[in-house]
Amino acid sequence: MTREGQHSAIHRADYTAPAFWIDTVELCFDLDPAKTRVLNKMRLRRNADVPAQPLRLDGEELNLARVLVNGQGASFKMDGNQLVLENLPAAEDGAFDLEIFTTCCPAKNTKLMGLYVSNDSFFTQCEAEGFRRITYFLDRPDVMASYTVTLRADKAKYPVLLSNGNLVEQGTLDDGRHFAKWVDPFKKPSYLFALVAGQLVGREQRITARNGREHLLQVFVRPGDLDKTEHAMNSLMASVAWDEARFGLPLDLERFMIVATSDFNMGAMENKGLNIFNTKYVLANQATATDTDYSNIESVVGHEYFHNWTGNRVTCRDWFQLSLKEGLTVFRDQEFSQDLCREPSARAVKRIEDVRVLRTAQFPEDAGPMAHPVRPDSYIEINNFYTVTIYEKGAEVVRMMQTLVGREGFAKGMTLYFERFDGQAVTCDDFAQAIADANPDSDLARLLPQFKRWYSQAGTPRVHASGSFDAAARTYTLTLGQSCAPTPGQAVKEPFVIPVSLGLVGADGRELALRTMDGNTVPSPYTFVMTQASETLTFVDIDAEPVPSILRGFSAPVVLEFDYSDEQLLTLLANDIDPFNRWEAGQRLAVRSALKAIAAVADPAPLQPLNTAYIDAMRSVLRHPTLDAAFKELVLTLPSETYIAEQLDVVDPQRIHAVREAMRGQLAVALTDDWAWAFDAHADNGAYQPDPLSSGRRALAGMALTHLCLAARTTGDVVWPGKAYQRFKDAGNMTDRFNALAALVASDHALAAQALPRFHAMFKDEALVLDKWFALQAGAPDRAGNILPAVRQLMKHPDFNLRNPNRARSVIFSYCSANPGAFHRPDAAGYVFWSDRVIELDGINPQVAARLARALDRWKKLTEPYRSAAREALVRVAAKADLSNDVREVVTRALA
Ligand code: PHE
Ligand code: ZN
Repeated sequence: MTREGQHSAIHRADYTAPAFWIDTVELCFDLDPAKTRVLNKMRLRRNADVPAQPLRLDGEELNLARVLVNGQGASFKMDGNQLVLENLPAAEDGAFDLEIFTTCCPAKNTKLMGLYVSNDSFFTQCEAEGFRRITYFLDRPDVMASYTVTLRADKAKYPVLLSNGNLVEQGTLDDGRHFAKWVDPFKKPSYLFALVAGQLVGREQRITARNGREHLLQVFVRPGDLDKTEHAMNSLMASVAWDEARFGLPLDLERFMIVATSDFNMGAMENKGLNIFNTKYVLANQATATDTDYSNIESVVGHEYFHNWTGNRVTCRDWFQLSLKEGLTVFRDQEFSQDLCREPSARAVKRIEDVRVLRTAQFPEDAGPMAHPVRPDSYIEINNFYTVTIYEKGAEVVRMMQTLVGREGFAKGMTLYFERFDGQAVTCDDFAQAIADANPDSDLARLLPQFKRWYSQAGTPRVHASGSFDAAARTYTLTLGQSCAPTPGQAVKEPFVIPVSLGLVGADGRELALRTMDGNTVPSPYTFVMTQASETLTFVDIDAEPVPSILRGFSAPVVLEFDYSDEQLLTLLANDIDPFNRWEAGQRLAVRSALKAIAAVADPAPLQPLNTAYIDAMRSVLRHPTLDAAFKELVLTLPSETYIAEQLDVVDPQRIHAVREAMRGQLAVALTDDWAWAFDAHADNGAYQPDPLSSGRRALAGMALTHLCLAARTTGDVVWPGKAYQRFKDAGNMTDRFNALAALVASDHALAAQALPRFHAMFKDEALVLDKWFALQAGAPDRAGNILPAVRQLMKHPDFNLRNPNRARSVIFSYCSANPGAFHRPDAAGYVFWSDRVIELDGINPQVAARLARALDRWKKLTEPYRSAAREALVRVAAKADLSNDVREVVTRALA
């Protein structure tokens, strides 16, 4: 630390074990919004393995009242934010008692880290370094202690008092106060501590595990929200059952609680036995939540529950190992959601959706100024490293391990991981070693040191593939090369281990049997494990030039380059047995048309970027008799503007937007009859159920309606916009209602101006629905430069509140990070708005501000005048003297 609050970079290589252990902690809280008193009694012990040194405890924004060592007043000094104690008594075992009394002010805590107030209730958020805002502590994940927590508060205002573990005592106190005492039976790092106090109601469910043990599951919400907790509870029960069935991991607590709060920086938090969730990932009923909300809730409830083993029972040694718990737990929640699908096609849809997130968010991150390895080497602010790289790419790395050892082998590896490390704080190396050791004959075991480059090297590898058919020899040879561009601080990359799942498709569309040079038939799809910069593989007994289907199921997080002809892609789109590559063929065709139109000399860009073959292929998919609706919806969704931008060295966001809108318009008009058919065939779905099949049908109906309203812009049709308005009014669920509203907004129809206020009036008391209402308007297509003024208006709306992260995201992020066509304005006003908001938010909540700061990550790729204007906006933010470390790190890296 240089001066107070100003950190310099922290390096993974500098890790040293803690000089002290904390065995037990007794915390006693007198909860009061203005002044909460915290008494912290610890039993500490010197770590005999490291040289003797003073005790340094972390603390932040605390008022320190008293420090006692073994019951005696002790002398201490402050070094920046640390409380330093020297000359500690050296008992035989090096143990001593330390008692610290502090106060803090939860009501003024707008950072939402540590102890804060939301809607008159108390919540905590301690990951990564929030516990130090509650009391002085060794606030690092490798210090694991046993916690006993007593909460005292006004009984009328805070009837529910919760903390981790088991409730062992409760009762009333004087002055209308009461107390509750909780004991957590498991040791834990401080980042997993939690408390909640407030006026909450709980949905309860008792379950019996396979071994006959009984558990109590509870979902706590504000009183009016109880009717929105059924799906979260169902998701929790499904999670418990799945982890037992798939990995043999049982629930280890008598009581497992989820609490929802509307003020939360992230999605949710896996505190031991007391998960705290953003309301967005808990509350749902058919009137207020969409199918997407339902499926997100299922994933996030699963994710936090699965952390109980991967994160809590075995935790991270230090924050550089964050992906140890996050990558693994995302992988687990992805598998959970897939396993809940009854139809194989629904599994494939989930996989495509996950890959789409990876490619539109993580690939750009890995190519930009914030690129970092899955296990970073340094950081300034750990909060900035809760990234799509740590989470989603980390999950892909775990998935590749499973591919290399097989599903059963992976489950064996997990078992060994817990045998070895239960109750410990460990590293990514420890995990990979356990999976490999459990599968000694696997490719993973053979290649482990090279495989671990996925943890150490940043950047998205590219696989360059080419094929050659030898008609005389009846062979087909694939040449596969790999490369990876430099990333900040890593100029040269060594080859990765890349599992490439592949098959060959005949020109007639049939899957070919794969025979290698030695005459062996190999199962198709075949997983070829690349390890070299370049290698070849040859298949025999091939009669005609096949179409290779490479990287099936997206078997590795790479960019695949293969010079497919349009005909070959159309063959794959029509026939590939691998649904991922079938979808991918359509995406490649669309990207190709987009890039051609973007590069065309014509100014403005050509209005008809799509060719007839593509449009016909889309019609065939849309009308296909057996493909399911969810898959059709994915195929017919054009690649996003962000994804298209990533394929270009120089980016003109307005041109990309114009071309993509032209493509959408073309699909809308050319397929009008087909969209009308699709709408009629999928619009009615009976009683609402958020299952994959019926939600796919709703998604396709919504897509059809959007295109029909778009087509109406050209044709002057009034019928479909009228139908959309009718559906908006009459819909029996939020998915259909919101899709109809979105169709009117996307086509900028006059009826949108009637529907929007009506929607607001209908849902004025539903915060999560209002978030959708704000986001829809801030994310609307910009046809006349009117979105930025609309966004400014929305910020003046009485329901807008910059301090509430969900609301801030719904307006500001929807505009700056999710609406490129409106944000990148030739007059630079979007960037000026962005810099104002980053600075303004930084004074309230640096984590949220730093996320917003990343909207300009890719500024160096922009063409003029955007590039200079974006740089100016970044410089403007960087010039602010008292920036948080969070924002400073992001803008400094962007400008480097
Ligand atoms: N650990 C949480 C998760 O992934 C995310 C989180 C990080 C939440 C930091 C809050 C603060 O589930
Ligand atoms: Zn997580």
